[in-house]
Formats: sequence, structure tokens, C-alpha cells
Amino acid sequence: MKSYSKGKIAQIVFGSGSSKSLVNRVQGFNAKRCLIVSDSRMIDHELTKNAMSALKESNIEFDVYSEVNSEPTDEMCLYIGKQIKEQMYDCVIGIGGGSPMDAAKAGCIIAGIDEEIEDLHQYGKTGTKMKESYKRPCALILIPTTSGTGAETTASAVISSLKHGIKFSFGNRNTSCDLCIIDPEYTLGMPAMPTVNGGLDAISHIVEIVVGTMANDYTNTILFDCLERVWKYLPIAVKNPMDLEAREQLSFAAHNALANGGMPNGHAVSHALGSIYHIVHGQACIMVLPTVIRHFANDSSEAISKIGQIMNLDMNDNAQENADKVANCLIAYYKQFGVKSFSKFRADKGITDTFEEFTEKMIPAILDDFKSREWMPAIHTGDYKSKISKVCEMIYNER
Ligand SMILES: [Fe+2]
Repeated sequence: MKSYSKGKIAQIVFGSGSSKSLVNRVQGFNAKRCLIVSDSRMIDHELTKNAMSALKESNIEFDVYSEVNSEPTDEMCLYIGKQIKEQMYDCVIGIGGGSPMDAAKAGCIIAGIDEEIEDLHQYGKTGTKMKESYKRPCALILIPTTSGTGAETTASAVISSLKHGIKFSFGNRNTSCDLCIIDPEYTLGMPAMPTVNGGLDAISHIVEIVVGTMANDYTNTILFDCLERVWKYLPIAVKNPMDLEAREQLSFAAHNALANGGMPNGHAVSHALGSIYHIVHGQACIMVLPTVIRHFANDSSEAISKIGQIMNLDMNDNAQENADKVANCLIAYYKQFGVKSFSKFRADKGITDTFEEFTEKMIPAILDDFKSREWMPAIHTGDYKSKISKVCEMIYNER
């Protein structure tokens, strides 16, 4: 059996209505002074308001930072970190989608770094300054309000570097939270597009992990099951935003899709694409995913066959043919929600970058993400330029 490793596992509370237990959980950490990190919409959500009222009634002090309205930047995370340090919060509560949760995670680790930070990117996964010994000075609770990112379970945060114009992974093994509260009621009524973006992100995590080099019995035991759930319930939740069963299924699958110690390596390319062309994360991921499948056709033929079976496709002995079928089925799946391929996106936005210009921008950003080192066949070694060009070509030309 293949070996695997798994990062720190947080305590997990899953279920409709579970956000009501926040006060008890905060008291369980013996916390007296909290910082809530969120966005301007989720801070006004009825469930958040209820949670804040309950904190007040229990005399637990809290401040709110609700400005994480887009992917967190290095400056924003440094600011949050400074606040945590100066105000000596003993518990940080991240409420929202991937961005507020990532900002909360990053802020907590930054607060545990004593030295003056000039460039946060140097502390990123491909930087040299992060130490595994840096620790959060406070408890961290994460409450995801979308079903897709899985950010509540990962030990890294994705941060946009204003200085370098790229997205980078930041964090160490202490970045994972202490507790995730996953309340699917948060996602009830969510409009179609955010639901689609979350679902496509979850599908990308699942597929990238099961075809990836770090897939193992542990990941596979649950991820194929998660794929089945998202594949079935995403169209239902989009059609009926108040369908609690669909919301619960999506929340369960999205959470477990990233809780299984694999590596969503396609994300190295999606992060590059998203940051250069300002594409929403879930859509950037799905623009890249068919290419991931075609690239891994021979090395992950068995996993791709299994994915095809979940999609109700006829699979045969020809690995490349199977990969093409699965990739094409994915394209048809995302197009039913009005999501565009990268070529259609460029045409609609009037982006005139030639293939050469596209590749030139993508290569350094892809290599900056440590996940690009997990592609099979490898894309970061030897003649990496022509290898990454091939990957870029498939994404650029997909209709
Ligand atoms: Fe993602």
C-alpha cells in the first residue's frame, strides 16, 4: 500500500444548525477576547448576527474585521496579523468563503512571527523565511459559508501579492485551525453563480487529488464518493437554492474533498491563470481541469476511468481516449452553468494576448507555486518551458 502523510486534523463539527454552538466552543477554548474575520455580506448574515448576539450575552468581547471582500492581499494579512498581536486576541473566528478563512489563517500565523516582515512572499511556500516553529498566538475557529474551497481544513492560505503580482501559498503546519464548524444552513439561498463557483472548485480539488501523484487509499476512499455527490447535487442546488438536502451534500463533499491529505496540483496553474487574468477561483480551476486530466492520462488511467464511470461514460482500454472523454464531459458539465472556457473568456473580455504572450506570463507564476512540482509527467524539471507551454496550449485553445 502506498504511504501517505496527513497534516494536523482540526476538530470538526458538521451539521445544519451547528453554528449555534459557537459560544460553547469559544468558551471551551477559555477565550475572552475574539476577532471575527469576515466579509461585508457574511457579517450581516442572520446566522452570524445570531452568533454575535450569543457572544455578547455570554460577555465574550469581540471585534470585527469584515473587509475581506476579495482574495486576501499580503497587505491585508499583515494588517490582520498586526491587530491580533497588538490587541492580544485569544481567539480568531474566520467566517466566510475561502478568502476570509485564508485571511484569518494567515493573520494568525503572521501574529506569531516576531521579526519585522518586509515582504510576505518570502515567508510563502517557495520563500525561505517561514519556519515550522512559528505558531499562532491564539485559537482559530473557521466557519465556511460556501461549499467549495475546503479552506477550513488546509494548512495554507492563498494570498495575492500586490508587490509581485502573483498568488502564493502561505503557511506552515501550525496554520490549520483548531475547530471547523460546518453549518450547511449558511449556504441556503446562495445565488447560482457563487454556488457554481464553489462546486466547480470542489470538483477540481477532487479530480486533481485522485489523478495526482499523492493520491492514496486514504484520499481515494472518500474522494470518489464526494465526486459523485457534487456531480449530482450541484445542478440541484443551482436550480433550487433552498434545497437543504442538496446544500448538505455539497457542504459535506466540499469539506471532505480537501480534508484527505492529497495535493490539488492543478491549482498551481489555476492560481496563475486567476491572478493574471482576474478570473474567479472556481472558474479558473475548471478552465484548467480538462488539461489536468489529459496531462495525467497515462499515469493516472485507473483514476480517470473511475471518474468516467461516475460521469456515466463508457470507458475502454485506451487511456488517452478515456481522458479525452472525461475532459469533454467536464467541459459540457461546466458550460451548462454558463461558465466559459478560457478562449471564450478572452474573446468576451477583449483580451488579445497571443499564445506566446500568454505562456510567457504563465510560466513564472506556475513555477512559483510549489504545487507545480507534483505534476506527472513532471513539468518543472528539464526543459520546463516547453513542458509548461504544452499545458498552456491546451488551456489556451480549449473551445
Ligand atoms: Fe480551490
